[in-house]
Parts: sequence; C-alpha cells; structure tokens
Amino acid sequence: MSKTSQQIVTVPQLASDAGSEQILAAGLAAATGPVSLACSFSVEDVVLIDILHKVAPEVRVFALDTGRLNEETYEVAEALRERYALAIDWYFPERQAVEQLEREKGLFSFRANLDNRHECCRVRKVEPLGRALAGKGGWITGLRRAQSVTRTGLAAIELDQANGGLLKINPLLNWSDEQIWDYAKEHCLPVNRLHRQGYPSIGCAPCTRPIREGEHPRAGRWWWENPENKECGLHR
Ligand code: ADX
Ligand code: SF4
Repeated sequence: MSKTSQQIVTVPQLASDAGSEQILAAGLAAATGPVSLACSFSVEDVVLIDILHKVAPEVRVFALDTGRLNEETYEVAEALRERYALAIDWYFPERQAVEQLEREKGLFSFRANLDNRHECCRVRKVEPLGRALAGKGGWITGLRRAQSVTRTGLAAIELDQANGGLLKINPLLNWSDEQIWDYAKEHCLPVNRLHRQGYPSIGCAPCTRPIREGEHPRAGRWWWENPENKECGLHR
C-alpha cells in the first residue's frame, strides 16, 4: 500500500496465470486516477491497443517522441491513428535540454559511455515520461518477462515507486513471442516493418540494430553494452 495524492493505492493480487484482460480490469479498477497506455509502437503495444479498443476504449495512449525514432515507427503510429481513430498524446523532450546536450556532446554521445547513454535517455525519455504520468493513477506497458534478464521478476500489477507511487500494469507479462505474433496475425494488426527485418525489439534508431540468428531478442538494443545495463530508465 502507498499514499499518493491523499489516496491509498492497493495493488491487486492476481493469480499467476491471470489473463491480460483480467489484469487490465483489475488494474483499471484499482487505480485512483486516469490510466494511460505507454506506446512505443512495438508489436506488443499494438496488441494492447487492439485489446483496449475492445475492452476499455476510454484508456488514452501516450508516446514519447525522443527525436531519434525510426521512420517505420511513425508509420505504425499513423496506421493506428487511422484504423482506430486513435488520438495519440505525444510527448517531446524539453527543447533546451536537447539543444544543450547536442551542442555540448554532439549527436552520438550515448555511445561513449554508460553515463552519457543514461543522460541521453534521461533527457529524451525519462523526463518526458514524468510529464506523461503526472496526475495519472496508473500506466499500462507492453513489458514481458521473456524479453530480458532485467524483466524476469516483473509482476502483473506493480506499485511504481520510481514514478511517484502510481500503478504499473503489465497485461502481457506472461505472453510468449508466439502468442504475440499469433494475435497480431489473427487480427491483421499493423506492425512495424522493422520487426520483419531482424528487429524483435525497437527503440531509438541509433541505439537499435537487427539481431543475428541465435542472438537474444534484445541483443540489438544498445548492443555495445552488457545485458544487465539494457534498460533506459523508463522501467526501473
Ligand atoms: S525500453 O525501456 O527498453 O525502451 P521497450 O522498448 O522494451 O522499453 O518497451 C517496453 C515498454 O515500454 C513498451 O511496451 C511501452 O509500454 C514502453 N515504451 C518504450 N518506449 C516507449 C516510448 N517511446 N513511448 C511510450 N512508451 C514506451
Ligand atoms: Fe538517446 Fe539512445 Fe536513449 Fe534514444 S535510446 S534516448 S537515442 S541513448
């Protein structure tokens, strides 16, 4: 239990095999303010948009435009906007912070060392996330346990202390790659073209490469770093 905005937040305890709709329903019922979906336009997030469209169309969708996303990612955003008449709440980084970073350290400072990488993610992702979550009772993500060693301990609904004590709802936590892709195919969902070009996980363009056969699905994210460092601060 945690106190946020004078309200007690109770994290629902769910069976370990709870389904995505059950997780969503419990999270939406427990949240003490509006809940939004954080959308990176990955196949997971497109699946979630489709599910939410059916079971909770009132949930808003926000996206963090870091300024370094792939063109293919914007194409998915547009396809979703048309298909679902979806209003996307875009958040940009603070102009002055980006200007200062680029003037002082150039355009690829994140490759130099981990501190620089965290600095860029802080400016372009974490600060805008804070604004996106202000006043919210919860957020929904497309995180899955199978994605990474840093995500195996994920819970269906968590108290997100790092972001002020709101709920973090992870309806797909137990979904396998196969389940995700079966759902996307069955419902003819628009998916990022990069997924079919060797990118199981897609972030900013300069920090994502395609993976080679046999590599871990997140091997292409910040590929120059160790697996335990492959988080950007959105998910702490
Ligand atoms: S990251 O932290 O490594 O970049 P990842 O790409 O695996 O995250 O995405 C996990 C979840 O984080 C997505 O399903 C989505 O909910 C959220 N997310 C990631 N990037 C963004 C973004 N640019 N805008 C909004 N949500 C995002
Ligand atoms: Fe910067 Fe790369 Fe992080 Fe994007 S993923 S915010 S470009 S360091």
